[in-house]
Amino acid sequence: MKLNETVAVITGGASGLGEATVRNFVAGGAKVAIFDMNAERGENVAEELGDHVLFQKVDVTDEASVVAGIAATMAKFGKITANVNCAGIGVASKTLGKEGPHDLGLFKKTIDINLTGTFNVFRLAAEQMAKNEPNEDGERGVIVNTASVAAYDGQKGQVAYSATKGAIVGMTLPVSRDLAFYGIRICAIAPGLFLTPLFEGLGQEVVDSLSAQVTFPKRLGKPSEYGSLARIIVESPYMNGETIRLDGAIRLP
Ligand SMILES: NC(=O)c1ccc[n+]([C@@H]2O[C@H](COP(=O)([O-])OP(=O)(O)OC[C@H]3O[C@@H](n4cnc5c(N)ncnc54)[C@H](O)[C@@H]3O)[C@@H](O)[C@H]2O)c1
Repeated sequence: MKLNETVAVITGGASGLGEATVRNFVAGGAKVAIFDMNAERGENVAEELGDHVLFQKVDVTDEASVVAGIAATMAKFGKITANVNCAGIGVASKTLGKEGPHDLGLFKKTIDINLTGTFNVFRLAAEQMAKNEPNEDGERGVIVNTASVAAYDGQKGQVAYSATKGAIVGMTLPVSRDLAFYGIRICAIAPGLFLTPLFEGLGQEVVDSLSAQVTFPKRLGKPSEYGSLARIIVESPYMNGETIRLDGAIRLP
């Protein structure tokens, strides 16, 4: 799919990996709707990038909120051809810790935002994509979800987070089969350690120690590198049904 013919819904587009994807796509001529809860950051990004960007305050877990965001996107841009899902949270809590068993509410909240939220947005985006005229490759749309290396190498305290990311990996193939009839592709990206606001607060010592664990290059990933891969997936008709690690070959113990 050509980027300059793309209208993309990008969740979590106000920060980190999502914001980098917004910037990459707009630079390539795409039109973008940012769905994010952080209105201040989202509106700033949209204002900076101009008329090709629409910000919508959307809670990905809420059906009515996503329906309204999709309706606003259709009203402004007339179609949706891509959906990149970066909205998510990271939580740290052990199955059983000094303070007792993992809080069930925190587990459910993580599932709700990272997994159900992702599903909620791409199912409704796919409904709109199915209405598009197919391009010369028969494509009507493409979905990119965000897993994590924690889907495979989850650490202590990542039970809830890893469960959501493993589920993102698990959805990829069946959804590619569900949506093939409509000419809609889906891939997931499993990032390693990326320098987003999450890590910027940790200090140089922690960043250095994490960087040392990466095989090559020995540094954290740049959000722009996530944006580049998301773009390659959108532009590559034969990429479908697969989760791609983007991690400098890190394998966490
Ligand atoms: N940064 C990393 O190293 C890394 C590694 C692996 C996976 N990931 C995944 O990448 C994705 C993006 O991470 P990031 O580092 O850019 O984080 P980030 O905190 O910079 O951005 C996440 C965005 O999601 C938004 N958001 C949270 N809950 C929402 C909701 N209910 N509805 C709408 N928007 C919501 C936040 O407002 C924020 O703008 C997440 O799914 C994360 O798990 C990140």
